[in-house]
Amino acid sequence: MQVEVVEGRFFGAAVADEIVSLAGQVEREKIAIALSGGSTPAEVYRNLVVEPRVSEMPWDKTVFFLGDERWVPITDSQSNFFMAQDTFLEQVPKTKAFPVVGRTAEEAATEYEKLIKTHLGENPVFNIVLLGLGDDGHTASLFPNSPLLKEDSTRLVASCTHPESGQKRITFMPRLIQSAERILVLVKGKNKAKILSSALTRGNTLPISILDKAKGKITYFVDTEAAAEL
Ligand code: 6PG
Repeated sequence: MQVEVVEGRFFGAAVADEIVSLAGQVEREKIAIALSGGSTPAEVYRNLVVEPRVSEMPWDKTVFFLGDERWVPITDSQSNFFMAQDTFLEQVPKTKAFPVVGRTAEEAATEYEKLIKTHLGENPVFNIVLLGLGDDGHTASLFPNSPLLKEDSTRLVASCTHPESGQKRITFMPRLIQSAERILVLVKGKNKAKILSSALTRGNTLPISILDKAKGKITYFVDTEAAAEL
């Protein structure tokens, strides 16, 4: 596991450079990237669609899924798909990106898993999974004490509820995250300094510790403010 510390003003460009570089190294005919939500990735996504990256990224080979989503209409500004559309997807129509849809959150999770398998096979492996880190150590929508963290099933996508807001969510299960070739954890801001220090402490039991069982390489991209307690 690697920690890249970047000055805040270069954060978006540095992560976008890494994504384009990793995508360029994928030999498969299809590149699968799982997007993170929340606010941190927005500047990364915006940096993907400026030169030279917008010309370098193999958009036509890439499929984007959401590592988690809020159970709101995709026209709602809280939607992670809405944020991805708004920050970069609208500008790269050649690429394929899949929102989470369904009549209920439970059904949407089941359908999303089927869609992922349709594109990536029965044992899907994402080339890149982008993750954030919440103040409570959650990642994707895997919250502290969530039964999903210990669930011993073959499910790859599940529905759940935000412990504070009660908002329904759809999230990748730990095993789908852990199977990725590369995992980039994006952490920015002084309010994340404490939780980042805990997350990087061996033996912690935060939800982000699911990465202890990750198969692929993990890189934490953090800005200098979030790195203050490292
Ligand atoms: C979500 C995210 C979530 C996020 C963290 C960090 O849907 O909210 O996927 O896991 O990555 O909460 O969010 P910020 O980047 O806004 O701090």
